[in-house]
Amino acid sequence: MNEQDAVLVIGATGNVGRQVVRELVAAGTPVRALTRNPGAARLPSAAQVVQGDHADPDTLRPHLAGVRAAFLVWPRLDDTGTARELVDLLAEHVDRIVFLSSAAVRDDLDEQEELIGRAHREIELAIERSGVRWTFLRPWAFAANALEWAEAARAGDVVRGVLGDHPVTMIDERDIAAVAVRALTEEGHAGAAYELTGPELLSPVQRVRLIGEETGVELRWAELSDEQWQQRLLAMGFDDDDAKAFRENFRASLGTPQPITDAVREVTGKPARTFRDWLRWRAAEFTDPVPEVGAPEAGVVLMSTWTLDDPQRQRAAADAVLEAWAEGTWPPGLLRHSVLLGTDGETVLHYSQWTDEAAVAAFREADPPERVKRIDDEVPGIRRNGVTDYRLYRSRVDSGSLRPGCVVVVSFRTDTAETGRGFVDQLLSWQAAELPDGSIGGMSSNHFHVGVEGTSVVNYAEFADEAAHQAVVDGMLGADDTVPRMIENTPGLTGLGFQRFVPYRGLTRS
Ligand SMILES: NC(=O)c1ccc[n+]([C@@H]2O[C@H](COP(=O)([O-])OP(=O)(O)OC[C@H]3O[C@@H](n4cnc5c(N)ncnc54)[C@H](OP(=O)(O)O)[C@@H]3O)[C@@H](O)[C@H]2O)c1
Repeated sequence: MNEQDAVLVIGATGNVGRQVVRELVAAGTPVRALTRNPGAARLPSAAQVVQGDHADPDTLRPHLAGVRAAFLVWPRLDDTGTARELVDLLAEHVDRIVFLSSAAVRDDLDEQEELIGRAHREIELAIERSGVRWTFLRPWAFAANALEWAEAARAGDVVRGVLGDHPVTMIDERDIAAVAVRALTEEGHAGAAYELTGPELLSPVQRVRLIGEETGVELRWAELSDEQWQQRLLAMGFDDDDAKAFRENFRASLGTPQPITDAVREVTGKPARTFRDWLRWRAAEFTDPVPEVGAPEAGVVLMSTWTLDDPQRQRAAADAVLEAWAEGTWPPGLLRHSVLLGTDGETVLHYSQWTDEAAVAAFREADPPERVKRIDDEVPGIRRNGVTDYRLYRSRVDSGSLRPGCVVVVSFRTDTAETGRGFVDQLLSWQAAELPDGSIGGMSSNHFHVGVEGTSVVNYAEFADEAAHQAVVDGMLGADDTVPRMIENTPGLTGLGFQRFVPYRGLTRS
C-alpha cells in the first residue's frame, strides 16, 4: 500500500476510531485521522491527524485526495441528512466504506421501529446506494458504556442504572476495531453485515462487582425508576416518544436472551475479549484517584513531574502513561501509580508506590523501552524533570479526614538526611502543640517523605480544595513567623517551594 492508499478514519478519537487508527498504524497502513481538535487527539505520530468535523462535510474535502477507504462513525443520530451528504462525498473518492452501525438494525423489518435502528439503517441504505463496496459492523452494546459509572466508581459512590439483573452482551471496542481493520484492508468483506458481541452475558450488577474486584473500590448498585430512565434518555438526545419506544422495546426483549455471536473470531481469528479484559485495560477510569499514602505495604515511593505546554496536553500525557501501564506488563512490586494534575495546567505529578527498593531496581532493569516510546509517540514534547525515590518518614493525619480535592507538594533540600528529618520532627512537634488535631480547617494530612539518597524532602499535604490551602498560606503562616524562623534557623535547607495538584487517575492491580 502507498500514500495513495490511505484509510480515512472518521471519529478517530472515539471509543472505536482510536483503536482503528492504532491497529492500522501498527499494520503499516497510511492513516488519515479526522478530528475537530488535533491538539487533544493523542494519536500515534505515524497517523496523519487532520482537522475537520464530519457534521460539516465540506471540512473533509481537503483531506480526501489519495484516500481509498473510509471508516465511518456517525454519533449524531438526529442528523442523518448530513450523514447522507457525507456518504455521497466519500463515494466520490473512496472505493470502500466500513460503517460502524448497530445491532439495533433489524433485517426482518422493512421499517425500523426505534431511533437507533432507524438512524443507522438510513445511513446503511445511503452507503448501499452510493455504489461503493461496503461492510457494516453491527455491534451490540459497547463495554465502554460502563464508563458512565466511572465517576461514581472513582468517588466510591453508588452506581445507578436500569435492569440491574438482566444479563446482556457487550463488546470490547478493540474487537470492533480489529474487525473494522480487516474489512478496511482485506478482501472478502464486501457486502457483509457483521453482528458483533463479546463472549459472555453479564448483568449490570455482575459488571459492577467485577469493577469492584479489579479496582479495589467497593461499589453498590441502585436501580433507576422508569421516570429517571426516561429523563436519562431525553438527556441523550431521544425525544419523548423515541425514549418510550426504546424502553418498551428493551423490556419486550427481556424474555429473549441476547445472542453471543462468533463473528469476532471468524473475522480476526482471535476470540472476543471478556469484560474483565476490557476492565483491566480501562481500570484507571474507575479507580479512586486518591492514593492511600501511608499504606503499610508501600516501602518506597517514586515521585516525578512532567511539564507540558497546556492543559490539553497535560491531560493527554496523564492518560497516555496510565494506558501504557494498563496495556503493558504490570511490574512485580508496583502497588499503585497515581497521577495528579498541576493546577498550573502544565505539570503532571506521578506518585507511585512500590513494595521495596529491590522491586524498583528490578523494574528499572527490565522496563521495556517501548513503554516510554509509546507515550512519547502519542504525546511528543514531554519534559521530564527527574525521578526521586522516597521513603515515607512521618505523617500527621487529622481525625475525620476529608477527601482531598487538592494535594500540595512542598519540597526542599537539606545538606544531610539528619537535617531533613530533624526539621520535619521540629515542624510536627510545633504543629502538635500549636495546631491540635482538626484545627486547620480544610487540611487533612501532612506526609513527609525523605529521599532514599537522603537530601530531598517532600511534604505531600492533602487539603479539601485549593481555597483551603490558600487560607492556610494567608492566615496561619502569615500571622505567625514560627515556620519561616524554623526554616531560617535550619542550616543547609534550600530550594523550598510548593506546587498544587488535583488527583486525576490511579491504577492498581490486585
Ligand atoms: N455505545 C454503544 O453501545 C453502541 C452500540 C452499537 C453502536 N453504537 C454506535 O457507535 C457510534 C459511536 O461510536 P464511538 O463510541 O466510537 O464514538 P464516540 O466515542 O462517541 O466518538 C465519536 C467521535 O466523533 C467525533 N465527532 C466529530 N463530530 C462530532 C459531533 N458533531 N458530535 C460528536 N462527535 C463528533 C469526535 O471526535 P473529535 O471530538 O475528535 O472531533 C468523537 O471522538 C454511534 O453511531 C453509536 O450509535 C454504539
